[in-house]
Amino acid sequence: MKGLLALALVIAVICTADASRMRRRHRRIRTTTTERPTSEQLGRGDISEAEHIEHGMSESLDEKRYHEAEIARVNDLLNEVSNEENEDEEINMEDPCLKVHCSAGRVCEINEHGDAMCNCIKDCPYETDSRRMVCTNFNETWQSDCEVYRQRCLCLDNSDQCRGPQYHHVQIEYYGTCREMPDCTESEMSDFPRRMRDWLFNIMRDMAERRELTPHYLKMEREAESNLTRRWANAAIWKWCDLDAQTNDRFVSRHELFPIRAPLMALEHCIAPFLDRCDADDDHRVTLAEWGKCLELDELEMEERCDDFNENAEHYL
Ligand SMILES: *[C@@H]1O[C@H](CO)[C@@H](O)[C@H](O)[C@H]1NC(C)=O
Ligand SMILES: *[C@@H]1O[C@H](CO)[C@@H](O)[C@H](O)[C@H]1NC(C)=O
Repeated sequence: MKGLLALALVIAVICTADASRMRRRHRRIRTTTTERPTSEQLGRGDISEAEHIEHGMSESLDEKRYHEAEIARVNDLLNEVSNEENEDEEINMEDPCLKVHCSAGRVCEINEHGDAMCNCIKDCPYETDSRRMVCTNFNETWQSDCEVYRQRCLCLDNSDQCRGPQYHHVQIEYYGTCREMPDCTESEMSDFPRRMRDWLFNIMRDMAERRELTPHYLKMEREAESNLTRRWANAAIWKWCDLDAQTNDRFVSRHELFPIRAPLMALEHCIAPFLDRCDADDDHRVTLAEWGKCLELDELEMEERCDDFNENAEHYL
C-alpha cells in the first residue's frame, strides 16, 4: 500500500515537471518571436527565426540531461518521504521507468508485471503553431514532429493504426510545411559558409547570455568575444561538439546533423547541399577537420575542445 502511494507520488511529480517544462518551452518560443525584429532577406530575419527553432531543437537534445536531473530530484524526494514514514523499514521502491530512456515517439509505462515498457505515445500535444509542422521524407506535411515519431512507432510495433508499411521509415525532412525547394545557386553557395559561421557565433552568444552554456563552453565564448581570430573557430568547434554530444564519438553523423538541418531547411534552401559538401569524403560522417574546411576556417584553429560531460552510458529501449 505504502509502495503504491510512493509510486503515485513519483508519477505525479514527473507529470507536473513535464507539464511545466512544456509550458516553459512554449512560452520561450512565443517570446523570442516577438523580441526580434525581422530585417532584410538573408540577414538576421531568417536566421533569428531559425535560431529559436534551433534552440527548441537543442532543448529536446538536452531532454536527456534534463531527465537525469529530474530523476535525481525525484529520488531525493522519495528518499525523504520514505525516511519520514518509516525509519527502519527498508523500502526498495523505485519506479522502473526512472532508469529508462525511450526513443522518440515513445513513453515509458509500467506493464502488469511491474516492468518498464517504452510504448508509443497515445496522444501528441495539439499544435497550432504552423512552425511546429514538419515535412517528411515523403513530402507530406504533418502537424508536429511528435505525430511523425508516433506514427513510426506504431508501425514498428505492428499497430493497426500504422497507415502503411512505408511509414516504418518515415522521417522528418524539415520543420515547416512542405514546399518547393529552390535550387541553391553558385553565388548563394559561395556566401553560405560565411553566413553559417555568423549564425553559429550568434547562437553561441545568445546561449551564453541566457546562461545555457556549460562553464567550459562559456570560456570559449568569452574567448571568441575578445579574440577575433578565435571567433568563428570557437563557435564552429562548440557546435560540432554539441552535435556529437549524444554519442561523443568525435564524428558528426548525418543523423546528428538533424538539429541544424531540419529547422533551417525551410528558411535556407542551401543548408542541405552545404551540409552534403561538409562530408567531403562521403562517408556519412563529418569530422572536425571537414567541418572547419567547409566553414572555410583555418585548419590550425580547429583543435578539438569538447566538454566531456555526459560520459555515462544510458539504458535505451
Ligand atoms: C512537395 O510538396 C510541395 C507542396 O505540396 C510541392 O510544392 C513540392 O513540389 C513537392 N516537392 C517534391 C519534391 O515533390
Ligand atoms: C588570439 O588567438 C590566436 C589564435 O589562436 C592566438 O595566436 C593569439 O595569441 C590570441 N590573442 C590573444 C590576445 O589572446
